[in-house]
Amino acid sequence: MKQTILVTGGTGYIGSHTCVELLENGYDVVIADNLSNSKRQVVDRIQEVAGKAVTFYEVDVADEQALARVFAAHAIDAVIHFAGLKAVGESVEKPLAYYQNNLNATMSLLVVMSRFGVNKIAFSSSATVYIDPAPPIREDAPLGCTNPYGWTKFMSEIIITDWQKTNGDNAAVLLRYFNPIGAHESGKMGEDPQGIPNNLFPYITRVAGGAYPHLNIFGADYDTPDGTGVRDYIHVVDLARGHVLALKYLDAHNGALPVNLGTGLGYSVFDVLRAYERASGKEIPFVIQPRRAGDVASTYADPTLARELLGWTAEKTLDDMCLSGCRWQSLNPNGYED
Ligand code: WQD
Repeated sequence: MKQTILVTGGTGYIGSHTCVELLENGYDVVIADNLSNSKRQVVDRIQEVAGKAVTFYEVDVADEQALARVFAAHAIDAVIHFAGLKAVGESVEKPLAYYQNNLNATMSLLVVMSRFGVNKIAFSSSATVYIDPAPPIREDAPLGCTNPYGWTKFMSEIIITDWQKTNGDNAAVLLRYFNPIGAHESGKMGEDPQGIPNNLFPYITRVAGGAYPHLNIFGADYDTPDGTGVRDYIHVVDLARGHVLALKYLDAHNGALPVNLGTGLGYSVFDVLRAYERASGKEIPFVIQPRRAGDVASTYADPTLARELLGWTAEKTLDDMCLSGCRWQSLNPNGYED
């Protein structure tokens, strides 16, 4: 029986790659996105890459009435909830906007899901909910956040968990992403941050593309092998495939399950820079800068639970991530068109 999945935030970076994997795995896909941080062209690229149609609604997930019209028009079997603001630095400057937008979206979605008897949700959470992580990080590591963005993920997990407890048929998977990078192998989809990227990988791709003269490396005096920060980079397509397996888990299980989606491997800033130089054939100039506030030295996942419960393991290498990101950048130097 073909299932219909509502993907909120489905024109975003991870959401769009997940839509392709859903279509390729035989699901029907309905996207609800307000396009506040993405372009309408992404819908066309999803359909082009997957060779199948999706249904798109330009709606704000926090708008209960608009969202109810989507649920009334489709027999939704499960929801993958990506929609939300996600810039750590911006969340510090605009905390109320982050709490209002991200928490209202989660709560409105759950209210409408309950009204229409939809009881399965996979939530786009983040490893940012782990406080002072001692890698490899397990799901039972201490929780806590250092910025409003992280708190909205933390609080959404709690809201979803309490919603699940109200009905034994409700089921949730709380997917805690580490550092998603890379792009679809076609070169037709990828990360398209608006403005100057805060994250390492999109900044490197733009240095290679000539947009910026050099990479600023935020600190080379950490207690790590080469002094730079170590993170668990995961290919966005591996991450997308984890969502398909999470839906299959929800078909057979109730409860509310936090699960790490990471490779279990840690790579430094220099590791990523050198891998991108190999992939692009271009030198990436860099300048060592002071540490960035809020950064930790090293964080990477213990991915055991995802393997044991979802049957998921990341397969792609750092070189795969860089080659795919380089192809996306070179074919789409200005990202998606307006
Ligand atoms: C990675 C490493 C930096 C930029 C963030 C969010 C997290 C999640 C993933 C949403 C660090 C260094 C970076 C640069 C640099 N997002 N760096 N120069 O901070 O691990 O995680 O993205 O869920 O919530 O916090 O990722 O890519 O910003 O940084 O040297 O221009 O690269 O110091 O060591 P981070 P990042």
